Amino acid sequence: MLNVQKLRGDFPTINGQNIYFDSVASSLTPMVVVDSIIEYYTKYRANVHRGNYDLSMQASEKFEGAVMKIAKLINASLEEIVITSNTTHAINEVALTLDFKEGDEILLSSLEHSSNLIPWLRLQKKVGIKTKWYNPGKLGLFDLNEFEKMLTPKTKLVTLTFVSNVLGSVVPVEEVGKLCKARGILFLVDAAQAVPHFKIDVKKIGCDFLAFSSHKMLGPTGLGVLYIKKEHAENMMPAFLGGGTINTAECHCLSLDSCDIDACTFSELPYKWLAGTPPISETIATGVAIDYLTGIGYDNIHEHTANLMSRAMKGLTSIKNVDIYGPLKAEQRNSIVSFNVGDLPPSEVGRILNEEFQISVRAGDHCAVNYFKDVQAEGTAPGNVRASFYVYNTEEEVDRLLNAVEKISKLTV
Ligand SMILES: Cc1ncc(COP(=O)(O)O)c(C=O)c1O
Repeated sequence: MLNVQKLRGDFPTINGQNIYFDSVASSLTPMVVVDSIIEYYTKYRANVHRGNYDLSMQASEKFEGAVMKIAKLINASLEEIVITSNTTHAINEVALTLDFKEGDEILLSSLEHSSNLIPWLRLQKKVGIKTKWYNPGKLGLFDLNEFEKMLTPKTKLVTLTFVSNVLGSVVPVEEVGKLCKARGILFLVDAAQAVPHFKIDVKKIGCDFLAFSSHKMLGPTGLGVLYIKKEHAENMMPAFLGGGTINTAECHCLSLDSCDIDACTFSELPYKWLAGTPPISETIATGVAIDYLTGIGYDNIHEHTANLMSRAMKGLTSIKNVDIYGPLKAEQRNSIVSFNVGDLPPSEVGRILNEEFQISVRAGDHCAVNYFKDVQAEGTAPGNVRASFYVYNTEEEVDRLLNAVEKISKLTV
C-alpha cells in the first residue's frame, strides 16, 4: 500500500492548498532527483566518454549506469537505447532516419499527440507517403478488427500512442504488435503516457521503436528515450551524426573529408546513436527517478491512481451538465478524466478552477486537434478540461475538484 502522505513530503513543490492535476503534461519531481542533478554539477562535473581522467570517468560511469537502468525498465538491452531530449525528438529521429518512398502508408489514430503526427505530415509533403487515420470515436475505445481492416500491403509503419493523453484510454499494443509482425510492418509506440504508469516490456509488445520522456515519470526535463530494436539500431544510418558516432580509429581514410560515409565504421551501439554531448545530469537523474518509481512499485501506482480514477468518475457522472469524454468505465481509462461543463469554454473552466479553487488542470485541445475535430460540433472551440492523477494526489484533492466542478456547473443552468 502506498503511504501517500509520507510520499508527498518528497516533493518540494507540494505545499499549501494548491492541487496539481496536470501530471500528464509534466509530473512533479522528488527531491532525490533534484539532489542528483546538484551532485553532478558540484561533485563530478565533466563530459562523458571524452576524457581518461577521474572526473570524466566518474561521470561516464554514472551516466552508463543510468542508461542501463533505462534499458532494464523497458526490458531492452543497452545497445537499443538512444538518448534524446524528449518524446517529440525521439519520434522525429525515427521519421528522419527511416527510408520511405512515394505511396508508402503510415497508419495512426486520431488520438495522436501532435508529436506523433506532424513529423509524418512533413514526410507526406516531402516524400509523398500517405497518412491514414483510425478513428476510435468519442469514447476512444480501440476496435482491433476495424483497425486491422485499414492495414494494406502498402502500410510501412503503424505509429500509435499507448495511452491517450486526452482520454486515458489504452491501446492494445501487444495485439497491434502481432498484427504488424505478421505483415512485416514497422511498429512505433508513443509511450509518453504509458511508462509513468505501466511496466513496459518492449519484447512482449513486439515493437520496433518506442519513445518516452523522463519529465512525465518523476524525472527531469530535457531527457527523452528512443528504444530501437537491435537489428534496426545496427542497420539504420542515424539522422544525427557527428562527435562520437563514427569510429575514426577504424577509418582507413587519410582525412575525414575524403571519407565515403557508406564506408565509415560506426561506433559500437548505442554510441552510434549518441551524436554530441548527451544530457548528462538529466540521464543520471532519470536513473534516480527510475529507482524512486520502481521503489514505489508499478502495482502500487496502479492501485492508487485507479482508486482516484473511480472516485473522480463516480463523482463527475453524477454532476448535471458535465459531458465526459472517453470511456465511461473508470477501469478503461488511465489516470485521466476529461470533460466539459455545459457550454462553458474549457479555458474558462480552467481559469475558474485555478483562480477560485487553486486547482491546476489543463484546458484546451491537448495537442490532439484531430480527435476534437472528429467528435465536436463544427464551430465549437476545440478541446475540454483535463485533470490527471499521479502518485502524490489524494482522495481529498479529488473531492475538492468534484466540489469545484459542481459549483461551476451551476453557473451554466
Ligand atoms: C502521448 C504524448 N506523446 C508525446 C508527447 C510529447 O512529449 P514531450 O513534450 O516530452 O516531447 C506528449 C506530451 O504530453 C504526449 O502526451
